[in-house]
Amino acid sequence: MTVLLQAEGLVQQYTTARSMFGDTSSVRAVDGIDLQVREGEILGIVGESGSGKSTLGRMLLGLEAPFAGQVRWQGRPMPAPRTKEWRRLRAEMQLIYQDPLAALDRRLTIARQIAEPLEIHGLLQDDIHPRVDALMAQVGLRPDQADRYPHELSGGQRQRVVIARALASRPRFLVCDEPVSALDVSIQAQVVNLLRDLQEQQSLTMVFISHDLKVVRNICDRVAVMYLGRVVEEASSDEIFSDPRHPYTQALVSSIPKAGQGLGGRIILSGEPPNPAQRPSGCAFHPRCRFARPACATIEPALLPRDGRLAACLRLDEPQTSAA
Ligand SMILES: Nc1ncnc2c1ncn2[C@@H]1O[C@H](COP(=O)(O)OP(=O)(O)OP(=O)(O)O)[C@@H](O)[C@H]1O
Ligand SMILES: [Mg+2]
Repeated sequence: MTVLLQAEGLVQQYTTARSMFGDTSSVRAVDGIDLQVREGEILGIVGESGSGKSTLGRMLLGLEAPFAGQVRWQGRPMPAPRTKEWRRLRAEMQLIYQDPLAALDRRLTIARQIAEPLEIHGLLQDDIHPRVDALMAQVGLRPDQADRYPHELSGGQRQRVVIARALASRPRFLVCDEPVSALDVSIQAQVVNLLRDLQEQQSLTMVFISHDLKVVRNICDRVAVMYLGRVVEEASSDEIFSDPRHPYTQALVSSIPKAGQGLGGRIILSGEPPNPAQRPSGCAFHPRCRFARPACATIEPALLPRDGRLAACLRLDEPQTSAA
């Protein structure tokens, strides 16, 4: 198992103006993450809105410099954003995000959009046409769509164009940030399957960010669960979905609608959704945790091997009596 990418003590802190008098406040969007991305895997990142998933994704690509900690790419520190060294590395790493229309230039035809990164990477004009054709075929676009403009395509087709563009530079690593959540439910599965096929064919490494746990279960090999800027549980996809251990993961997994079943057995999360501006003391999840005890308000659990996997919960250190 080779580690392609590694986050070490990664922190991102944003300072924002609070009032017209120049007061500032800061939030920690990512608050100390240690994570390894293994070559050839699809690593899922899940968690509620505001848990820091996109921030983590941008830092893994070196698009944002961390406030503290570092990202290593193949063992070497990630170069600072937008430096020459970083630009060279960028061909190997691509971001696919939610809104394909925002990622595309509405004035350019589909063929031009896909040709652009090939030109930037110095491919000869004669070689560009066949490569554009091949990329379009690879993502399931028809040749007659080459001369269309983005607004003339469906959302799913647009996302295929974005994927073709991302693949043009022959990347090794993709961050897909909610890549299908803006798409019609009926075509989400097609785009997810396309990503999975491409990953297999080209042995890509992927970080797949999504709040749709069904999609994550479908596509990911491993999953990291985030809560308020930290990873609270990390395990294989099978373990996370069939036997979640952290109370937060249990709540998330129980909220996945099951075929032919209502919401029976669903754990409803009580309390306020997480707000990084008001991080609770101790375990950040304790105000919403059904197992919380006084110690949870004071002791911060580290992400440690517990009960056969990585989890950050004090309860898992104790001998289990009647679970749940
Ligand atoms: N550029 C920024 N400046 C200030 N605060 C930011 C910035 N980017 C993100 N944040 C804050 O950091 C926290 C984490 O944001 P992030 O976008 O990473 O969450 P997320 O898990 O991707 O959420 P979602 O599921 O809604 O996409 C949020 O509270 C957000 O408001
Ligand atoms: Mg996000």
